Amino acid sequence: MRTPIIAGNWKLNNNQEQAGDLAQQIVEAAREVPEVEVVLCPVYTALETVRRVVEHSPVKLGAQDMFWEESGAFTGEVSAPLLKDAGCSLVIIGHSERRQFFHETNETVNRKVKAALAAGLIPIMCVGETLPEREAGKVEAVVSEHMLNGLAGLSSGEISKVVIAYEPVWAIGTGKNATPDQAQEVHQLIRKLLAKVSGPETAEKVRIQYGGSVKPDNIKTLMAQPDIDGALVGGASLKAETFIPLVKFKG
Ligand code: 13P
Repeated sequence: MRTPIIAGNWKLNNNQEQAGDLAQQIVEAAREVPEVEVVLCPVYTALETVRRVVEHSPVKLGAQDMFWEESGAFTGEVSAPLLKDAGCSLVIIGHSERRQFFHETNETVNRKVKAALAAGLIPIMCVGETLPEREAGKVEAVVSEHMLNGLAGLSSGEISKVVIAYEPVWAIGTGKNATPDQAQEVHQLIRKLLAKVSGPETAEKVRIQYGGSVKPDNIKTLMAQPDIDGALVGGASLKAETFIPLVKFKG
């Protein structure tokens, strides 16, 4: 059985005070659902604030990106060992906003995934097509490319630790979520690709999150799909009243 994983990607939102207050409310809710893994990914400057709040709680701390080198002359960057040192257990890699605005490629995603694993961080590797790609019938091609290049050179043992987030770009922040059937279709493809690169046993272990306009009113049907193991949430993770129902999706 795969442990459900609900992660809040706060993106460029929440100062230290807002982050601390929100994290506190999430911690209380998460204690009531120990069977669900809850992750909060604040901006770097709020990591320490959130770390203090989630310490000794079931909630895990994640970062939104990292660089693949450990240290050196890379002004403005943060490395995997430093995120680990800051209390992170997970890190989002290859989010579509980073691909779109910051020139992230499948090759840089692959380097980052490897560096994250080497430092003992769990990468949440994001994959997903844009609207023109979907309309051109390229979903399978794009998602396969993201998956196979992103995971290139990893052992089955390493792949078993990775979390995949399927985030169709057209569903992010648009209020237009993929239907549970559309999402399941791609999640099934992702699991097939995982089986191809790491064998069926590993593929069964890997958790695949859906992301893109996940809200309290659609989480249940999404999570009911056999290959949807969690959610990576943007907008609805910014308020306790919309994120707590996601954490408690079973209730
Ligand atoms: P929304 O939930 O705001 O659509 O964002 C999804 C996302 O990008 C999470 O990483």
